[in-house]
Amino acid sequence: MAKDITQMMYMELRQEWNRILDEARPRVAPRCRACRECDSLRPKCGFVSSERGKSGERNYEKLQQIRLACDTMYEGGNGDEIDTSCEFFGEVMSAPVFNAPIAWIKNAFPDSHFKRPGMERVDGRATDSDDYGYTKALIDGCADVGLVGWVADSKHHPLVHFFDDGLHAIKERSGRGVPTIKSWEDGQMIERIKKADEAGAVAIATDIDCVGLGDMSINAKYDSLPGIVTPKSAKHLKEIFSVTDRPYILKGIMTPQGAVKACESGASGIVISNHAGNSLDQSLATIEVLEDIKRAVGNDIKIYIDGGFRHGEDVFKAIAMGADGVLIGRPVMVAAEGADSYGVSIYLQKVIWELKNAMRMTGCLTLRDITRDKVVITKEF
Ligand SMILES: Cc1cc2nc3c(=O)[nH]c(=O)nc-3n(C[C@H](O)[C@H](O)[C@H](O)COP(=O)(O)O)c2cc1C
Repeated sequence: MAKDITQMMYMELRQEWNRILDEARPRVAPRCRACRECDSLRPKCGFVSSERGKSGERNYEKLQQIRLACDTMYEGGNGDEIDTSCEFFGEVMSAPVFNAPIAWIKNAFPDSHFKRPGMERVDGRATDSDDYGYTKALIDGCADVGLVGWVADSKHHPLVHFFDDGLHAIKERSGRGVPTIKSWEDGQMIERIKKADEAGAVAIATDIDCVGLGDMSINAKYDSLPGIVTPKSAKHLKEIFSVTDRPYILKGIMTPQGAVKACESGASGIVISNHAGNSLDQSLATIEVLEDIKRAVGNDIKIYIDGGFRHGEDVFKAIAMGADGVLIGRPVMVAAEGADSYGVSIYLQKVIWELKNAMRMTGCLTLRDITRDKVVITKEF
């Protein structure tokens, strides 16, 4: 019988993770090197599409300037007494951790093993991409360790339907997943929202910052595939999402004003995100804007965050500074490449283990105990 990943020792998880990285490395090259520590730092990292990649670098670097305040003089805190569980729109989760949505695996990694048999590239596009297999690895890998997975969206090619593939994977897991919809024309968005509704998705998200991805916005008219993404006001988003009763989450919020507008739009959650630095160079790091955003919206809306989070200790930092949960992007994608759903589960279970240990080392028995005084921002922040 396969070993229960949730019962693995930390050393075993780390060994497995290193082995999975070795498996993934030839499949993700040359863009990604499957580094032991995925830090976005140029020139070695080619895994952001922005020319300079400064926003992605800053995400990682600013997180390193926050440290944890160790205090082990308290009662309790044996393994089982530390509770990392939380709730996500009615679903119980083993920890406040998600994968971040990233679409079109073969576009990122041409040598990905998620290849549709018999298919080749058409019109220079990765139409041989098996995004159903890839998103299934994400959704199942998350669910197997008690988490909720996210899937992404892209232009539909006549031969590949990324959104439908991801939704299929979610449906097969009884709706335990979040589909992300790009900021398309109203009709296209509404069609996808209705499909997500039918699939029983826990919540539905929109990456509103996708308008910074030039090929879908500024250069869209030169693309042979239909579909253009545009900015949308709070009122406009409210109208579009009125077709569903499901909670929806706006991904790509980077200012307190943006977070207030998200509340006005009726969204139930936001993801503080700069799209791994893909959509706008020279933006602030996500962790830098978290506290101002929390001050602006308080508990009116759930606050999630991504960008450079790699370990349980990083998740701890975000919770201490006001977030309800953290999304992790590129390492989870590499994990799926290395060992499908097993790889995703191993990596995320390692993150959960680290979070639990950070809680034990700081006297936090539940997530509520992770308060602001448990982290220290160093002078250079
Ligand atoms: C290659 C790549 C493609 C991405 N595609 C999407 C996407 O289709 N939709 C989306 O919401 N975010 C997308 N993202 C952003 C991620 O969801 C997430 O915000 C980011 O990767 C988090 O940062 P991290 O990779 O440092 O953890 C993409 C990121 C990368 C690196």
